[in-house]
Amino acid sequence: MTPLIVANWKMNGTIASTQALLQTLPAHDNVVICPPFPLISLVAKLGFITGAQDCHAEECGAYTGEVSVELLRDVGCSYVILGHSERRQYYHETNKCVADKAQTAQKAGLKTIICIGETQEEYEAGQTLDVIKDQLINSLPTDFKEENTVIAYEPVWAIGSGKVPSEQDISSVHTFISETLRKAFEKNLRILYGGSVKAHNAGAIMRLPHVDGVLVGGASLIADEFKGIICS
Ligand code: PGA
Repeated sequence: MTPLIVANWKMNGTIASTQALLQTLPAHDNVVICPPFPLISLVAKLGFITGAQDCHAEECGAYTGEVSVELLRDVGCSYVILGHSERRQYYHETNKCVADKAQTAQKAGLKTIICIGETQEEYEAGQTLDVIKDQLINSLPTDFKEENTVIAYEPVWAIGSGKVPSEQDISSVHTFISETLRKAFEKNLRILYGGSVKAHNAGAIMRLPHVDGVLVGGASLIADEFKGIICS
């Protein structure tokens, strides 16, 4: 399977920086760029597969400041990241909330990238697999399809910290996720790893068993780093 490489720009980027960065990158059919909402149509016009970083669970209505899945499709999105740990932490998104958003997004034809991962505290308490299993089972919408659902395993303590779990730990968590999906849903989903992925470690991570790509934050904003990851 060709690895999927997803760039999560978070709240970074301007029109000028988007043009400058993407002009140096050839568009690839396994690379997805997830910029802030106002930059989505520009990224799509530049020829890249585009994703949003969130969406609303309702199809439309009186939700000031929110963006609907219909509009996301309209401006060129084909993916949406849901349940990122920053959304779970700062906006108190629960598994149920993530599942509801995923349901609406999938109904509109968007592919969902559902993020799960343990905090530092949970990791130190040896609760990683319990936390992962709970988030995984409860963040998925009913009737999800293999072709429109991607899981991203992102240990919260690895995000933006420069710390990365050992290859053995990544491998065993991904194997656990894959087995859990098979047992609970009889499904085989693409599983990405995220958290301090850089050009120097991306290749080794993507070659691990059950790792089908990467979700990249900081390094996706730096042309040489991101090119290095794509070429890994
Ligand atoms: P990072 O972020 O690559 O900067 O660690 C990853 C993410 O938050 O998706």
